[in-house]
Amino acid sequence: MTAPELCELGHIPELGVVPKKMHAWVIRKERHGPPLESYQREIVDVPEIAPDEVLVMVMAAGVNYNGVWAGLGHPLSPIDVHKRVYHIAGSDASGIVWKVGSAVKRWKVGDEVVVHCNHTCGQCHRCNGGDPMLCQEQKIWGYETPDGAFAQFTRVQAQQLVVKPKHLSWEQAGCYMLVLATAFRMLYGHPPHTLQPAMNVLVWGGSGGLGSMAIQLIKAAGSNAIAVVSTEERGKWCMEIGARAYINRTKFNCWGQLPSTKDRVPYSAYLKEVQRFGKAIWEITGKGIDPDIVFEHPGEQTFPVSAYVCRRGGMVVFCAGTTGFNLTFDAAYVWMRQKRLQGSHFATLMQADAANHSVMDGRVLPCMSEVFEFDAIPKAHDLMWKNQHPSGNMALLVNAPATGLRNLEETRQFAVAS
Ligand SMILES: NC(=O)c1ccc[n+]([C@@H]2O[C@H](COP(=O)([O-])OP(=O)(O)OC[C@H]3O[C@@H](n4cnc5c(N)ncnc54)[C@H](OP(=O)(O)O)[C@@H]3O)[C@@H](O)[C@H]2O)c1
Ligand SMILES: [Zn+2]
Repeated sequence: MTAPELCELGHIPELGVVPKKMHAWVIRKERHGPPLESYQREIVDVPEIAPDEVLVMVMAAGVNYNGVWAGLGHPLSPIDVHKRVYHIAGSDASGIVWKVGSAVKRWKVGDEVVVHCNHTCGQCHRCNGGDPMLCQEQKIWGYETPDGAFAQFTRVQAQQLVVKPKHLSWEQAGCYMLVLATAFRMLYGHPPHTLQPAMNVLVWGGSGGLGSMAIQLIKAAGSNAIAVVSTEERGKWCMEIGARAYINRTKFNCWGQLPSTKDRVPYSAYLKEVQRFGKAIWEITGKGIDPDIVFEHPGEQTFPVSAYVCRRGGMVVFCAGTTGFNLTFDAAYVWMRQKRLQGSHFATLMQADAANHSVMDGRVLPCMSEVFEFDAIPKAHDLMWKNQHPSGNMALLVNAPATGLRNLEETRQFAVAS
């Protein structure tokens, strides 16, 4: 079969036949801004692959906050990072290996896969025996690299692939990896502060992408996840996926940057409120029992509280600053109580693969909330940007023509039947 110029969305050509062009949602520098403006549908070239790369036909993708950041061009424009004039966002995908580079040994055309987003050099000492997340060349695919998941085809390094759990639909498989592997590294990747049975972990944004994965990993480890949420509905949802309890943050008023410790009156009022929040934790854990790990990502609004409520010798592990990067905390409580403040960023293949096995054996569910058509990609990001999205992970159909299809065979049968 000769390669067609372009395939319509949902039309799957013969295995391994690569069209010249593809449909994609494209961000350009001149349109950085809210998702509904920055994302526009275009027809672009299908990417060429290098010897160590794989071309994946994207069946479904996931929504992540980095897609919001990429559109906004804040705190930086991805285009300034990778220097191509346009950016295709999307750091989660499920799909089918459609073409492999000459050096690729582990994967073959037709393999059904989930993509993880850690892009590395593959050749340095960190990548070989060290921690690949510390590679000098480390980048997040679909954010710092130009070809992400919101297109019919994407270009990934061979080491970015893991096996797709067979029982999941394309859209279930496409929506969880980024947040799951990030949560896995936050909870297991920073010894000796690793998750152990019977620990207490405070999970900010329990109903969000990261939070929902953290709650399930904590439950699977035999520990207690205490979810923080902003509505009762979200709290109840966290209980359904395994949280021990939840706290509604809207009942407290200790958010934002730490007041100056020299201004005794506002500082004391603040401290009293943080202690009230701490007592709400004790009502769950028992008097005097503070969280062993605080799973942090809102940043500026919550970090002072996280650093305060963490137990002596415990760890605040953070992977983001969604509400702002100017993190503040009362240093005295951190040094005297010998707490660890630990930054964490995505995950290695080893961690992504381990996390994926917890999905394969059914211990962790993708928590897919809602499935959006390809044309609704900007809308899904707009909901996330406004914190109006449903609990769990939103999925996006790319080449999958309908929901519920799990593999290429079922997808082809669906096409014949309809
Ligand atoms: N470094 C990495 O590798 C990495 C990986 C994944 C994600 N991230 C980052 O982590 C952040 C969260 O990602 P996500 O996918 O979990 O997003 P998400 O699904 O939107 O969840 C974030 C949660 O944060 C909570 N939140 C919002 N404003 C808050 C505030 N002012 N105070 C406390 N909580 C607040 C919300 O819950 P409530 O309103 O119910 O409290 C929301 O559910 C994003 O900035 C993302 O870019 C980083
Ligand atoms: Zn490297």
